[in-house]
Amino acid sequence: MQIILKNPLDMHLHLRDKDMLKAVAELSSKSFSAAIIMPNLLPPITTIEDVISYKKRVDEASKNTSFKPLMTLFFKNNYDFEFLKSAKEHIFAIKLYPAGITTNSQDGVNSIDSESLKDTLEAMSELEIPLCVHGESEGFVMDREKEFVPIYENLATNFPKLKIIMEHITTKDSADILDKYPNLYATITLHHLLITLDDVAGGMLKPHLFCKPIAKRYEDREALLNLALNAHPKVMFGSDSAPHPQDAKESCGCAAGVFTAPIALQVLVELFEKHSKLDNLQKFISDNAQKIYNFEPISKSVTLEKKPFIVPDAYGEVIPMYAGEKLKWSISSIS
Ligand code: DOR
Ligand code: ZN
Repeated sequence: MQIILKNPLDMHLHLRDKDMLKAVAELSSKSFSAAIIMPNLLPPITTIEDVISYKKRVDEASKNTSFKPLMTLFFKNNYDFEFLKSAKEHIFAIKLYPAGITTNSQDGVNSIDSESLKDTLEAMSELEIPLCVHGESEGFVMDREKEFVPIYENLATNFPKLKIIMEHITTKDSADILDKYPNLYATITLHHLLITLDDVAGGMLKPHLFCKPIAKRYEDREALLNLALNAHPKVMFGSDSAPHPQDAKESCGCAAGVFTAPIALQVLVELFEKHSKLDNLQKFISDNAQKIYNFEPISKSVTLEKKPFIVPDAYGEVIPMYAGEKLKWSISSIS
């Protein structure tokens, strides 16, 4: 049994820089047509020169002309119209992080209110630059995304021409507001379709499943599955694959991030097959994102076969999700 996925897209990916970039880039560039590359380096990507030189390093590391890195800027509320106008041809979107909410986000925004972000968001609306958002408040960790919902609603209402992507949604509350605002969209990760907080901390602590936003309740996972498996047209796949060295994960201050890039397609096929929804995977993995962002990716066909794939214990110094376990599907060819 085989399935062919056309032009897979990862609409939320961390590739890092230097040795880590060299170690992980190909694991996405081989099997994906394009990916949105997140800008949370240290220091973050905030200038046009940063974007251009980071893209060059990504291109070199991905060793693949049939992979397009879709570059982003790290949101700052002093970006003005002229700057954004010049940046537009080099970027695909801008990523907004609340300050300190996750890995390398200390230079993010302290207060997300429409008034203080008005000039930048109006310029982005006019220039049609999408806004990708890490939507978490500073509250209790399980409530952070729920508490961010009014902020999403406020932004969507005050900037109706701005395309707003709720990144890596993890709750039913986020799923519920998607259809209320025409300019709200969402990405969903692989891991949030699979795990709940029980998998992370219900038994022995699993540092390689620790991420931000933290995995939530069963009813939340159900709401995400419902969106993804039915290929809701405002929802796209964004792995949030976030590599950290093993010693940064297995330490007394565990870094947030799940590394899924090398297993994403195989596990998505297994998941959609299990729910008898294989026919919807093409939309979730590519077609929806093309429509939402209005772009045409480089053509790539990935054939997966129902043949076991043993996930390597490690990729260099990074431990992937399902390390050492047997998956039902493997990638048999890419053209
Ligand atoms: O778990 C996460 N890891 N969530 C994020 O938002 C950032 C990411 C990272 O960069 O490691
Ligand atoms: Zn991320």
